[in-house]
Amino acid sequence: MFIVMLRINKANTGKNTKPAKDVGKFYNQTTEKFLEVYGEIIQAFRTNNVEEYLEYTAKNMRLKEKMHVLDAGCGVAGPAVFFAKQIPNLKLTALSISKVQIEKAKVKIAAAGLENSIEAIEGDFHQVSSIFKKAQFDRAYFLESYGHSGDKEKLLHEIWEVLKPGGMVYIKDLFEREVEDEWEQHYIRKICDDINESYQYHIGTLYETLSILRKKGYIVHYVKIPEVKIGDFEHLSISNEFQNLFNIGKIDSWDGYVFPIDFFEILAEKPVQLSEKDKHLYFMNKS
Ligand SMILES: C[S@@+](CC[C@H](N)C(=O)[O-])C[C@H]1O[C@@H](n2cnc3c(N)ncnc32)[C@H](O)[C@@H]1O
Repeated sequence: MFIVMLRINKANTGKNTKPAKDVGKFYNQTTEKFLEVYGEIIQAFRTNNVEEYLEYTAKNMRLKEKMHVLDAGCGVAGPAVFFAKQIPNLKLTALSISKVQIEKAKVKIAAAGLENSIEAIEGDFHQVSSIFKKAQFDRAYFLESYGHSGDKEKLLHEIWEVLKPGGMVYIKDLFEREVEDEWEQHYIRKICDDINESYQYHIGTLYETLSILRKKGYIVHYVKIPEVKIGDFEHLSISNEFQNLFNIGKIDSWDGYVFPIDFFEILAEKPVQLSEKDKHLYFMNKS
């Protein structure tokens, strides 16, 4: 019982932190393997045609021409290159904690002739206010990278610093599933712990993130599940194949397995400053 309680605490704090540099090491060692199975879009939740899924993502992030966008946890810049090709005059800053990924991203960006649109930088997204000028980004997005953070409060505070007023943060990630049955919930936390261990992850709860966003003053535009047609959904077979091939987070038996996570998309805005009394008029004041 004591062990179970410890696990509960660990899963809920989001601060049991594996240092970001360990995440970097993990991706330095495994990126080739990810590329082999996932291709250049390293996301488990996707459709059979991953480019269609990225189009959907761009729409939901409300990306527009001429925006300056931070790709926080960019992988090998697969998504950034796709968005830069799709949306005219987009300026992207692609950030990853993995040196190996940034080397590969640079090659990919050059091969696409997009050096003027995308810069790839090695660094920790918990430090963005020291790496970049404040209030410079229209968007910051996390595509299955946010959950690597062991300190989500610091992370969302840092992102606030580098967003322009009116800029938005978009998160697409997995969050701990919730069920009514207490023991099933314990089991879900145990599976989440195992995933965290295997992938250097810190699966959080949806409420923790919403609470951080709202306390900081972000306006939450939406929280929703990714809306894809069942026939188009890839059914996580790529991530299962990855686990089986490389024995990373491999599920030994599906007998009695409880699915531990839900995917959500979140869009939240750093508002243009209004007086306290006018805050509830925020959307009316916007043209
Ligand atoms: C699952 S991969 C997703 C990559 C990319 N978003 C994509 O869709 O292909 C997670 C990414 O988050 C990055 N990441 C994790 N922790 C980070 C940190 N503290 N700072 C910067 N990048 C980080 C990893 O290096 C990796 O590129």
